[in-house]
Amino acid sequence: MTGISEKEKQYYIQTYKRLPIDISHGEGVHLITKDGTRYLDFFCGIGVNALGHANKKIIAAIHNQVEKFSHLSNYFISDVQIEFAEKLLKHTRMKKLFLTNSGTETVEAALKAVRKKKGSEGIIYSMSGSFHGRTYGALSLTDQVNYKKDFEPLLPNIGSIKFNDVSDLRKKINENTSAVFLEFIQGEGGINVVSEEFVSVLMELHSKYKFVLVADSVQSGLGRTGKPFAFNHYNVEPDIVLVAKSIGGGLPLGAMLVNEDLENVFSYGTHGTTFGGNPVSCAAGKVVLEEVFENGLLESVKNLGNYILSELNNFANLFPSFVKEVRGKGFMIGIEMFSDCYKIIELLMKRKVLVNCTNKKVLRILPPLITTKNDIDFFLYNFHEVLKKQ
Ligand SMILES: Cc1ncc(COP(=O)(O)O)c(C=O)c1O
Repeated sequence: MTGISEKEKQYYIQTYKRLPIDISHGEGVHLITKDGTRYLDFFCGIGVNALGHANKKIIAAIHNQVEKFSHLSNYFISDVQIEFAEKLLKHTRMKKLFLTNSGTETVEAALKAVRKKKGSEGIIYSMSGSFHGRTYGALSLTDQVNYKKDFEPLLPNIGSIKFNDVSDLRKKINENTSAVFLEFIQGEGGINVVSEEFVSVLMELHSKYKFVLVADSVQSGLGRTGKPFAFNHYNVEPDIVLVAKSIGGGLPLGAMLVNEDLENVFSYGTHGTTFGGNPVSCAAGKVVLEEVFENGLLESVKNLGNYILSELNNFANLFPSFVKEVRGKGFMIGIEMFSDCYKIIELLMKRKVLVNCTNKKVLRILPPLITTKNDIDFFLYNFHEVLKKQ
């Protein structure tokens, strides 16, 4: 790894703390290093590789599309883009969509849609601890100081509501509210699940004040929580749904989905992108949608998600001085530790298991959706061993 990590330091603006593992290739739920060591990847490209690595159906779909064309500008209609859109809308029951390349671009599209629909005077709210991306609009919504300091001034008329604080919600939402952006399960913020009570008050205020409710499902979407989207665990119908990460099967793709109230929000030329909805990404995305919604993956995540969560809750009882709380749904799980989790990550890495840490003390477990019970048991065994030796 020496040569390549020196070159990385020499050439790359140093914004990423890289893992000391030299990957050769991936196979399903595993990443394999150049010296042949096999790691269980429960980190999954931060929730991107839902079908694991080197999925044969995705490879075939990409190959087939690349042989036809890998890019047409959005001046042309391409079959694959429309087939993908049709499938995504069918499974989400939204009315229309706009395709992008990433999560942050879907947030930008939604911000523009809100301003276009509601004007620029109203306040757009996000939640404390939220993460919506790093471009200027999305960063303005992201409510974590570390990401924002040094980059002000940000967008005006953005407000913050304390996550799961019903009285703060009631205090701030009124006729001057344009929109509320909500991750029904916060990802980067530490796998925080929104409470039923908070959602029910939010919906009561939504029917009263008619603000635009935006469900940022970039991390929690497309089957990861055992339902199509995290918001499907509640009785809500958002006005806008944002997806990205896993939707392109490892290629860059995002979507802003809107209901009928917003289907005409943009007209020719008011929004656009060169690469958004790239045909190769859409071909891969079609496979993701088929596997998750039509070929049984959703059901498997639901069942195995319950299993892993109940086992991890036992760990919280077995190791009460290390594990503070286990949170999440399906395959989107946070294990809050009493101290920084970097050491646990290193120890798990030595045991050939890759997990991630978010918000310093939260071990984030994002297994590929194709993960089996055997893979989960391998993780649980090794995590148990690590905790036992603390
Ligand atoms: C909820 C949420 N929204 C938006 C984003 C931004 O997505 P991207 O990194 O693809 O721009 C992320 C990324 O982690 C996210 O978790």
